[in-house]
Amino acid sequence: MTLRHIISINDLSREEVEALFGLADRYLETLGDRQIPYRIAASASECSGAVMATLFYEPSTRTRLSFESAMLRVGGSAISSASPATSSAVKGETLADTIRIVSGYADLIVLRHPRDGAARLAAQYTSVPVINGGDGAREHPTQTLCDLYTLKRELHRLEGLNVAVLGDLQGGRTVHSLVYALARFGANILTMPAPGMELPAHVASRLREEFRYTMRSAAALPELSQLVSGIYAPRTAKPFASPAKIDVLYITRFQKERWKGGGVNYPRVNAEFLKAPAFADTLLMHPLPRTDELDPGFDVQDRAVYFRQASYGVPIRMAIITLLLNSGRKHSAQLLEDGLLQSQRAELDSGRMCSNENCITRFEESSTFGSLHAAGDAPHRLHCAYCDYKLIGI
Ligand code: NCD
Repeated sequence: MTLRHIISINDLSREEVEALFGLADRYLETLGDRQIPYRIAASASECSGAVMATLFYEPSTRTRLSFESAMLRVGGSAISSASPATSSAVKGETLADTIRIVSGYADLIVLRHPRDGAARLAAQYTSVPVINGGDGAREHPTQTLCDLYTLKRELHRLEGLNVAVLGDLQGGRTVHSLVYALARFGANILTMPAPGMELPAHVASRLREEFRYTMRSAAALPELSQLVSGIYAPRTAKPFASPAKIDVLYITRFQKERWKGGGVNYPRVNAEFLKAPAFADTLLMHPLPRTDELDPGFDVQDRAVYFRQASYGVPIRMAIITLLLNSGRKHSAQLLEDGLLQSQRAELDSGRMCSNENCITRFEESSTFGSLHAAGDAPHRLHCAYCDYKLIGI
């Protein structure tokens, strides 16, 4: 028997993502007022009696509160540990032990943690479903569901869209889940990193090998070559037409908590930045919180969708909770059928060490599993099953 978790956006099949959106639509009633874009069906009781624990080892406003609001709105209740300072982590308790304990108190755990791969480790020790609310610089799958849902509502499609991701593409976990999802739904991805903050190598190689994306030169779009470092597109996509049109600009903040030192020349999206014709109708998205990278002057414009994007967190998370609490325990054969184990990964006890210094396996004893990618004709590569970085011999 296997428990159902959402650790990576790739734990959900395309069909399941669509089904979650259908459910979120049901929970969302448009009032026409764009400042208050929805009202939740008051009688939802799919999860009555269930208890959700939010276990947050890093600051959060949107993720934790929208999960808690979502749980209350589907008829359940929520218990919370909002800071490591008030949990037994300060006494030295391991995450593995905390998860063992909390899974005895709740029917569902939402975890946020500063270490890459922490959610995968939690899934190993839990007896209830675990949802990754952000693990270090690795992934933030439920934010991506809010992002995709926003795109679906605003632009009604994903395939063929030109989506530019801007800022800290290395430290920003939301971007990693997002680019995997965009690749799976056939969008083109244009990278606009802050200096030295490109997509990590393991994310780029996964896009190429597992999702069959090719990396094209930014020279294909000469008018944007100052900003764009690379273009990832499906192998079968047509060559890029110039002048380019950017459909979506996904802006992220400098993840200062994941970098030693600061002082980077970070981009700021303002009227001057968006003066190129390619940005004439571009939708502006941001997972928030924003700092200086996005001019608040855009807030009044209709194309600034970031506050709506955040507000969809409640109906989307209501749908996620309902899915997980009602799917219960499933045989792995059933999970395979559902597309859950789609990425052809085999886990094996590798006896090697993860090359990532922020990997949870560097902080907590665990049998560092390797994950063998067997993606199409690409050579098999051994990755850490927790954080996806390369394993090194010991
Ligand atoms: C993001 C996160 O925590 O990764 N916040 C969020 O959940 N919307 C983005 C960020 O902190 O920059």
